[in-house]
Amino acid sequence: MTQVQSGLLLEHCRFGIFIEAMVQGEFADLRQGCKQFCQALNALQQQFPEAHLGAVVAFGADVWHDLSNGQGAKELKPFTPLGKGLAPATQRDLLIHIQSLRHDVNFSVAQAALAAFGSTIRVEEETHGFRWIEERDLSGFIDGTENPQGEDRPAVAVIGEDEEDAGGSYVLVQRYEHNLRQWQRFTTEQQEQMIGRTKQSSEELPPEQRPETSHVSRVDLKEEGKGLKILRQSLPYGTASGKHGLYFIAYCARLHNIEKQLLSMFGELDGKHDALLRFSRAVTGSYYFAPSLTRLLSL
Ligand code: HEM
Ligand code: MG
Repeated sequence: MTQVQSGLLLEHCRFGIFIEAMVQGEFADLRQGCKQFCQALNALQQQFPEAHLGAVVAFGADVWHDLSNGQGAKELKPFTPLGKGLAPATQRDLLIHIQSLRHDVNFSVAQAALAAFGSTIRVEEETHGFRWIEERDLSGFIDGTENPQGEDRPAVAVIGEDEEDAGGSYVLVQRYEHNLRQWQRFTTEQQEQMIGRTKQSSEELPPEQRPETSHVSRVDLKEEGKGLKILRQSLPYGTASGKHGLYFIAYCARLHNIEKQLLSMFGELDGKHDALLRFSRAVTGSYYFAPSLTRLLSL
């Protein structure tokens, strides 16, 4: 069995750290960094078993192409801007996603990552996320209601055993900044129309009662009768007085599913934009490929 990286499928984590970096050193050092990081992670997992700690290392298209000698991750490509720049592209080379029940332990893992990769990487973004009350986004809506649960998680997010990239996964990250003052000007009913679910109890509004621009209508897509599912591991981040929002991250066995949802949100399919863009804007965007742990250690 190919091993999946330990941070990919975790459920109900309370904290996450997201590091995005450019690679500036030699590939031999990058490979060595991956191995050293996995060892350090392993040691911390042993030391703090109750933290349910996991992490994922993933690569942008350019670096992956060179690291893998052009093998696998056929769908991977650099992120390009969508919706006339409404979704900007800030493609980086490396993503390190850490999550667990404990921020203090996550912080140690982040330090271990920096030690392992050293000057081989240059960090461009480091975001510390937290699970807010009742697993709500800062908009006040529960985030994750329709996320796959249990056995459905690997079925959606992990490439199958019989495939070339078995145990791997495609990743999208986009950091969104919310304008909560703007959001609070809308009534609860208007907000519910924009999201497509009720606010308190997260009940889905029937399709005929929600606008085509509601978030749920934009992303709940079908192709040939089959739902295009993805696994979301997003977390709120930021400061109360400064910038805050959602660090969006999704994993999927097919990049296609994620991309189709994005095209739909940013007006690239039918000219209609997601209503949530009226209070939140994407400020970063990258695609990555997370190989299986087995592959990561043998690159
Ligand atoms: C559902 C919030 C961005 C994909 C939801 C829900 C909320 C939400 C409140 C309803 C509850 C749930 O099922 O989880 C947000 C916020 C975003 C954001 C605040 C950014 C500011 C995105 C992006 C994508 C996406 C960029 C895809 C590329 C989904 C999917 C669902 C969902 C697939 C489930 C739809 C269904 O099957 O009913 N989101 N979301 N979201 N979102 Fe987002
Ligand atoms: Mg649904």
